[in-house]
Amino acid sequence: MKKIKIHKGRKYSICSCGLSNILPLCDNAHRKYNEDNKTNYKSVKIIAEDTVMIDVNSSKWKA
Ligand code: FES
Repeated sequence: MKKIKIHKGRKYSICSCGLSNILPLCDNAHRKYNEDNKTNYKSVKIIAEDTVMIDVNSSKWKA
């Protein structure tokens, strides 16, 4: 599980594939993986309604 601070009105892309070097955020590493493996990973987009700390997690992330 990763804890991040999100800021009101800003858009965030959360990694769902586990390949990002900047977890929990997406760095677009999924694009090459999708091309090479015929998969369809995409980041999860969120827009913060308030400035808050959130916990995010994915079963694809290594502990
Ligand atoms: S790098 Fe994992 S979803 Fe983009």
